[in-house]
Order: sequence, then structure tokens, then C-alpha cells
Amino acid sequence: MRLLPSLHANANVAVIGASGGIGRGFVELLAADSEVQNVYAFSRSPVHWPAANVHDHRIDIVDEASIENAAAMASANGPLDLVIVASGILHRDPVIQPEKSLSDLNSRALTDVLAVNTIGPALAGKHFLPKLRRKHKTVFAALSARVGSINDNRLGGWASYRMSKAALNMFVRTASIEQSRSLPESVVVALHPGTVETALSCPFTRRLDSRKLFSPTNAARQLLHVIDELKPAHSGGFFAYDHARIDF
Ligand SMILES: NC(=O)c1ccc[n+]([C@@H]2O[C@H](COP(=O)([O-])OP(=O)(O)OC[C@H]3O[C@@H](n4cnc5c(N)ncnc54)[C@H](OP(=O)(O)O)[C@@H]3O)[C@@H](O)[C@H]2O)c1
Repeated sequence: MRLLPSLHANANVAVIGASGGIGRGFVELLAADSEVQNVYAFSRSPVHWPAANVHDHRIDIVDEASIENAAAMASANGPLDLVIVASGILHRDPVIQPEKSLSDLNSRALTDVLAVNTIGPALAGKHFLPKLRRKHKTVFAALSARVGSINDNRLGGWASYRMSKAALNMFVRTASIEQSRSLPESVVVALHPGTVETALSCPFTRRLDSRKLFSPTNAARQLLHVIDELKPAHSGGFFAYDHARIDF
């Protein structure tokens, strides 16, 4: 099955955060696509991938040298057609928990969340965008979150996560403008996957209607469909799993 007919045939794709729920979904679907030649699966925690076209490599998104190495490794056999940044953090015991109130803010958690969710993806853009194929549609997609929309924020709370994703969205817009000057066929976007059943969302989904919760594979499939439909005119935008544009 061909999931991404709008990309170059025999595509080379990279997934950063491949050990995560949604990241793993991307790798598995892309590895099974007959038109994808190489899947470069980057993760901090090791993962065993049985498929022969998956090449795994370590990355720590808060370490620029490891991002630079990963970009060099992923482009050694030819330019990349798709890069997905699927790493991210919402909570990590005991220091990082989504803040209920401003009194919960602490410098260490704010720094760590911004490092993983904003600075890391920005540095991934710095090192991976120059590795994209020229003269054909390519996509750099960073997983953001609807709660990073400033316009959509009516509930408050989760300050560090919201801030990190809002700033990520700004990086995406900024990078898209620069990228369009040298590679007009290239698309740089922020994507919202919906609420997905993963370790990241697990503590917060108990009361959610199960019909509103996507499996990681379904979430990845929906986002690959969005990626395939994207045109250069969409570059710099923020899109949900259902193709709807989200206000910044
Ligand atoms: N799940 C949802 O409902 C939902 C909703 C909106 C947006 N999102 C976004 O979607 C993305 C994927 O989330 P998920 O639900 O798949 O979460 P997940 O299962 O917790 O996966 C998160 C991934 O990020 C990786 N990561 C964290 N810190 C890292 C670091 N320093 N270096 C490299 N990798 C690092 C984790 O690696 P380790 O395994 O090594 O920790 C893991 O692979 C995130 O950006 C999240 O904000 C998710």
C-alpha cells in the first residue's frame, strides 16, 4: 500500500521519537509502505525493529550533537523526503507535572519541557531541513498540540506544555518562511494528532469517552494522510488530524 503518493517514489523518511506511542505508529506504517525505501527511526530508548528497511539510531533531542549526527546518518544514502518530529514531554515524575495553577510553576520543569518540546525540534529543523530533497514535495512535520493554540486557550493550566507548543508553532512558521526561499516545494508544518492513547496522555484520559481517543496506529495513519494532502501553500500552518487548520 502507498500511504504518501505525493512524495517522491522510493522515499527516505526519518522519524524522531520513534520509541513513543505515535512515533512507533509512524515507523510501523511507513516500514510497511512499498514505496518507502528507508525509514530512519531515531529514539533515545532503544527499540527493536524487525523490518529490514528500518534503520535505528540513537538521538537525544536535548543534545545538539546527537541531532546533527542523526541528520548526517539519515541522509548518507540520499536526500530525505519526510521528517517527522514525534518526541515530546508532558510529565515526568517527580519533577514535571502539568501545572494546575501558576503556583505550580518551577524553573526546572519549565526548562526541561521547553528543551524537549521546543528547542529540540528547532534544532532538528536546523540540521534536518538542509537534508531534504530538492525540486520535489518534501515535508518537515513537528507534532504540536491543540493546547498550544493561544487563540483556543479558554481553560488555562498546563502552562509549560502550552508555552512549549506555542513556541514550537512559531518556530514552524519562521522555518517555513526561510525554507520557502530555497525550496519552494517544501512544506514545514505543526500537526495536532488528537487525543491518543499513549504514555504521555495516559494519566489524563481516564474520564474521556473512548470514542474520542485514537490508537497510536490510527493517529499516525490519519496524520500521514494529512501530510500527503499538504501543498506548499500550507507551509507554516498548524493542522489537526482531520485536516482542519488550527488557529495559532
Ligand atoms: N498523546 C496525545 O494525546 C498527544 C496529543 C497532542 C499532542 N501530542 C504530541 O505528540 C508527540 C508524541 O507524543 P506521544 O503521545 O507519542 O508520547 P509518548 O508515547 O510519551 O512518546 C514521547 C516520545 O518522546 C521521546 N522523548 C522524550 N524526551 C526525549 C529526548 N530527550 N530525546 C529523544 N526523545 C525523547 C520519548 O522517548 P523515550 O522513550 O526515550 O522517553 C518518546 O519516544 C508529542 O510531541 C506530544 O506532545 C500527543
